This record gives sequence, structure tokens and C-alpha cells, in this order.
Amino acid sequence: MSNTPSDWGYSTRSVHAGEERQKAYKALVEPLVTTATYVFENTQELIEFKEAQLWGMQGKRAEYARYGMPTIAACEQRLAALENAQDAILTASGMSATMISLMALLGQDTHLIMTDDSYRRTRLFCQNFLPKFGVTVSVIPTGDLHALANAIQPNTRVYFTEFPTNPYLRLTDLSALAEFAKQKGVKTIIDSTFATPVNIRPLAYGIDLVVHSATKYLAGHNDVLAGVILGNSDLLASIRQVLWSFGAVADARGVYELLRGLKTLSLRVERQNENALTLARFLANHPKIEQVWYPLLENHPDYLLAQRYLHGGGGVVSFAVKGGLESASQFIDRVKIPFIAASLGGLESLIEQHVLMSYFDLSPEERTAQGMRENLVRMAVGIEDVQDLIADLDQALAGLA
Ligand SMILES: Cc1ncc(COP(=O)(O)O)c(C=O)c1O
Repeated sequence: MSNTPSDWGYSTRSVHAGEERQKAYKALVEPLVTTATYVFENTQELIEFKEAQLWGMQGKRAEYARYGMPTIAACEQRLAALENAQDAILTASGMSATMISLMALLGQDTHLIMTDDSYRRTRLFCQNFLPKFGVTVSVIPTGDLHALANAIQPNTRVYFTEFPTNPYLRLTDLSALAEFAKQKGVKTIIDSTFATPVNIRPLAYGIDLVVHSATKYLAGHNDVLAGVILGNSDLLASIRQVLWSFGAVADARGVYELLRGLKTLSLRVERQNENALTLARFLANHPKIEQVWYPLLENHPDYLLAQRYLHGGGGVVSFAVKGGLESASQFIDRVKIPFIAASLGGLESLIEQHVLMSYFDLSPEERTAQGMRENLVRMAVGIEDVQDLIADLDQALAGLA
């Protein structure tokens, strides 16, 4: 449970929330505790601990690292403060955050609705794995609340979408979604990885759970794998039980890096917002670019929702290079600053041709059927000087045949 003063601003929360002021050995920085198990002084202390039915991290003591430990507890409280959530659960990766949330809320003979534009691995998990446990899955167009109304069945338990989505950065009317889902008794989960709590806090609109790949913007330095689930305490208490059985808990050393990364979250994301918007505008006016997707460009299909919900458009820009698969590959091979790599949210700009990075195993026809254009480039903009990035993309586009 977050103990952050409600009047603290965003950067103050990023730096201080979740940490005790007086730390072990008078350390300034939250210490990294790496022990897997915790000592009881005597049998009486153990009995008192068990009688109180304490689990996880309780006050200053823990029992066993899979059930919680100090560095993780501090980081969970900071994340809860940033998202304005009652509680947070750290997990080993973004995928495990999604998987554990869904496994906790779904079961035999239940139904899940998710959206078509999304991280492919999440869709694969839902479509290929969940049916083994008796869950049926409907995939509907992102943001389409009529399609949602049509897809709902008496046993629908969960609606899952990203906000914005990967790679077309589509949005959903969160207030309308939450209201409709509540009427139908359906829990809503938003994967808010691309936005971060700097740009949107979906819980404020009535969404039940938020998940993030903390690997991305939250940790922010491309050197940690982690995930987080955020929501109200009751719901999270039941999800924690699932995590403790699956054991996909976050690694303490990674969480130490995550706590450090969070201190600069708003600085980094504000810069990435600015850089990405400037780049998106540059690309939108470039004769060798066919189309740009960025939520704060007026021609984005969800521009009005972006204006209503988003503080900033985030650090990802997707665009189609004129001329098809080959031209996009040539362009990517000519850029000098962004690295060709999967992922997003770090300090370095990354660039990828989406069908090759994430849909390589599919035929061109199958990719098209999934809405993936052969010439689609996804750029995760870093914190470099934007004029350098523009000059780099410009020279790469100028060299195209
Ligand atoms: C939107 C989104 N959600 C979840 C994930 C999975 O996160 P992780 O790689 O931390 O498991 C990713 C990873 O790329 C992602 O882009």
C-alpha cells in the first residue's frame, strides 16, 4: 500500500516514494537485499509470525524471498504511488505480469476478449495457451466498443488491451470501456507499457488492472527484465497468491536497477515524448514516407482520444516507407544512430522493421491478414538530441533509390 503524500508531484514520487527515510546502515540509497530466506530468532517468533498469518513482506520482516523482500517492497510502493494504485506486484517480466493476471482472473469455461493490435507474444499466449485450460478467446478490433458489445458472452470475465497498442498506437475510450465492462461484470486490464504513468493512469478512469513491461520505460536503460501489475488491494491480494505459486517473481538485483531507473522516469519520458512528436511531424512531411502513426498527429485514427487521455504521445513512432519491404530494409540499414533491435523505452533509439522482427515466421499473406505492412518501421525514440535523429533519418531516406 502506498504511503506517499497525496500532494506530492510526479518527480518527487519518482525519487522518493516507497522508500523509508531512515534506511539500514544510514544508507541514502535503498539497499539491495539479496538473501533468499530470512531468519527467525526463536520458535516463539516463528509462531507469532504464523499466528498473525503474515505473508510476503510485513513491516520490517520477510519469511522467504518468493513471498516478498525489502527491495521489492520499496519498488512496488513507488510504482503504486506513480500509478495512483492501492498496490503493485512486481514480476519477472512483462509477459509474466500479463500471464499471472489472466491466470488469476480466468478459469475453466470462461471467456477472454482481447484486441487485435497488440504485442504478438501476448496474443500467442492468449490464443494458443489459454484454451488448454478451458478458456475461449475472442480477438476484436482495438477500441471498437460495438465489437466488444457483440463479442460479450455470459461467461466473459476479462477484456484486455494495450494503450497505446503495438505497433499502430491505437487507443480506447477508457471511461466508456470501464463503464460498459462494469455493467457486464467484466474485469478490464490495460497494458500501459507504451504510455507509462507519466502519460496516462488508466485506473483513474475505472480500469481494474494495469500491467507494464517494466523492462521498457519504467526501468528505462535496456538492462533489466521486469513486469508490474497494479490495482486495488483486494484484487492484487488474490493475484499475489497466483504469483507465489508460479514463482515468476522479480529478481532483486534487477529491481534495484528498476528503483534507480524510476528516479528519472518523468525526465526521460518527457524528453521521449518531445523527441517522438518532433520526429513524427518530420516524417509526416517527408516525401519518401507513405504514412506515420503517432497518437498526437491529427491524422491518427485516435487523435481525439489522444487529446482527451494522453499527457504525451509516448516514445514510439511507427511509419511506412514508400516502396515496400526492400525500401524499408534499405532505409533501416542506412540509419547510423538508432540500433536495429527489439524493445523500446531505453535511452538509445531503437529501430526495427516490424514484419521481420516480430512476424518473420509468417508468409506475406499471413502478415497482411494480421494488419502488418511489409514496409512498416517501428522506431522507439531515445533521449538523443532530436536534431541529430532528424538529420540521421533524413540522410537515410535521401539515399533510398
Ligand atoms: C506492450 C508490451 N507488453 C508486454 C511486453 C512483454 O514484456 P517483457 O519483454 O518484459 O516480458 C512487451 C515486450 O516487448 C510489450 O511491448
